Amino acid sequence: MWYDSKHVEIRSPKEWYNAVADQYNQSHKHLNSFYRVEFLRFLPRWKIFRIIDLWAWDGRMFSVLNSIPHTEITACDISEKMLEKYPKWAKKQVVDLEQTFPFDDNSFDLAFCFFTLEHIQNIENFFNETYRILSDDGQIFIGHFFQRREFEWTANQKKFKIQQYKRSTEDIEQVMKECFFDVDIVPMSDKWVHTGDLIIWKK
Ligand SMILES: C[S@@+](CC[C@H](N)C(=O)[O-])C[C@H]1O[C@@H](n2cnc3c(N)ncnc32)[C@H](O)[C@@H]1O
Repeated sequence: MWYDSKHVEIRSPKEWYNAVADQYNQSHKHLNSFYRVEFLRFLPRWKIFRIIDLWAWDGRMFSVLNSIPHTEITACDISEKMLEKYPKWAKKQVVDLEQTFPFDDNSFDLAFCFFTLEHIQNIENFFNETYRILSDDGQIFIGHFFQRREFEWTANQKKFKIQQYKRSTEDIEQVMKECFFDVDIVPMSDKWVHTGDLIIWKK
């Protein structure tokens, strides 16, 4: 077991999300504030897309994804408790996204991945797999935001934090380029404060 300097337990993402599935929507407002309206301008609408919501959580992003013309939205997460909360109009699949993805090549046109890169140990595998499942003109939208402090959670009267892998946008950009994506980085802000980056990667 790991602890931080104040002896708060550090848990792996897998243990953590199942433990807090019932309280997670309390942080929607905070997460939404990282990008507000700006992000919506970049959503593609030029064709009908097959969309995949990677690290889908409880469906916080669903209403945004549902506003894009689509034939299907597939939601993937390792936590079955989180996916139970995802709106029923999506296809849901429990997947460990640190492994090979259970999808054929060229299965999707748009992939979304928000507030997650700090939880992934092997991001090279994640990007290679995302590249493989996207169609030839596929795109991935990544929301990578700066956290000033780590969240502390309580479940069964025990405080804990989640294990994180700290990465800058530049670190991520470098790995993405090695995995053959073209990268656009759009700074996001809230009340003039730079809160993070929207990273749009095209095949
Ligand atoms: C911060 S939440 C994602 C937030 C969501 N993308 C959003 O923006 O609303 C991280 C999610 O990743 C999931 N997760 C953690 N490890 C995972 C893994 N190895 N494979 C798939 N999902 C995982 C957790 O269960 C949790 O639902």
